[in-house]
Amino acid sequence: MTGRRDPYPRYARLREISPIVRAADDALVVTGYADCQTVVRDGRLAHMPPDMLAFLGFPDWREHPALRLMYTSMLVLNPPDHTRLRRLVSSAFTARRVQGLRPAVERMVDGLLDDLAATAGGTADFVAAFAFPLPVAVIGELLGVPAADRAQFQTLVRDWTQILERITPEVLERADPAAAAIRDYLAGLLQERRQDPADDLLTALTQAQAADDRLTDEEVLSNASLLFAAGFETTTNLLANGLAALLAHPGQLALVPQAPEAAVEELLRFDSPVQLSARVVTEPVEVGGVTVEAGERIVAYLGAGNRDPERFADPDELRLTRDDNGPLSFGGGIHYCLGAPLARLEAQVALAALARRFPGIELAGEPQRRDSLSLKGFTAMPVSVG
Ligand code: HEM
Repeated sequence: MTGRRDPYPRYARLREISPIVRAADDALVVTGYADCQTVVRDGRLAHMPPDMLAFLGFPDWREHPALRLMYTSMLVLNPPDHTRLRRLVSSAFTARRVQGLRPAVERMVDGLLDDLAATAGGTADFVAAFAFPLPVAVIGELLGVPAADRAQFQTLVRDWTQILERITPEVLERADPAAAAIRDYLAGLLQERRQDPADDLLTALTQAQAADDRLTDEEVLSNASLLFAAGFETTTNLLANGLAALLAHPGQLALVPQAPEAAVEELLRFDSPVQLSARVVTEPVEVGGVTVEAGERIVAYLGAGNRDPERFADPDELRLTRDDNGPLSFGGGIHYCLGAPLARLEAQVALAALARRFPGIELAGEPQRRDSLSLKGFTAMPVSVG
């Protein structure tokens, strides 16, 4: 898929051809809002069992740290394993528990904005100075990853999660050592918590394991890695995509503090940090007006569904006060994003505070896009805060 910078015109063309089209890699692609919802919600569609990686040329997937760490996590498992593992961590992410983190998030945001204000000439890379450090600090505090160790994970997680875009020997050359470093680091921390418990989520995972002998070391490790990676990579992208959209539409940034909740929903819709979600059909199912047979792979283009004119009036317009919003950006069904309340809280607090503190913030150079559509974001965004 080309057009990573602005895939939306291409999505519109696909939608004009047919609600369901076959892509060059043989997968079926849907671009409509309702069809995307069916793909992520319907129980007749499942995540690809890891052994199917053999058909993509990786019968030895267990030997690749990047594939093994991802394909043993809840993100890609199906029930009953998925149910068991999701239950393990979902209690930590209730909307109430997350709201309790608001004062801590506000303090972190204020600290980072102070640092931004103090930059020489008022110019900084928004990704390095704000969009990455905030979510990595929040999830780092929750899990119990020490502050001094966090910076290295920006590139490690980016290299690992490139397998969500495409799995090729070249991608694995970087993704494998990155995943091995993340795995070894978190395995060390989990071992420390088993001996010396603390008040954090890593300790909670080790304690859950002690109470449930079905939980393997590998499951605890891969889900801790998933939580850490998912906890900041996508939220970093929401903050940077969100600021880019606001700066491209003069006058919009100033509206964020008035209604941060609605603004963040619209920014999620307008340029979703997660653009694709893939499934395999396990029983014949009707999608896009046709019956799709078992064994087919289908990709829901969430970013396209978010611009479906049948669901949203003037879908290509950024309207921060849009009512009846409902972006597909957190997926749906049993894999609905576990961290959605946390990501929303962080973005609402961060973007409202940024708008209040630096109303004249502007781009100070060309932002650099991440080479990925599955996870759409920026690697760098020079800004001047005035
Ligand atoms: C703007 C930020 C975020 C976006 C756009 C996002 C998006 C998504 C999407 C689309 C899925 C479903 C994938 C699928 O069905 O194939 C998902 C799953 C998940 N997300 Fe997020 N996410 C974000 C932030 C977070 C945060 C902050 C955390 C953790 C604290 C998190 C943890 C997870 C986990 C653990 C899953 C797997 C859930 C399951 O398989 O049951 N996410 N996310």
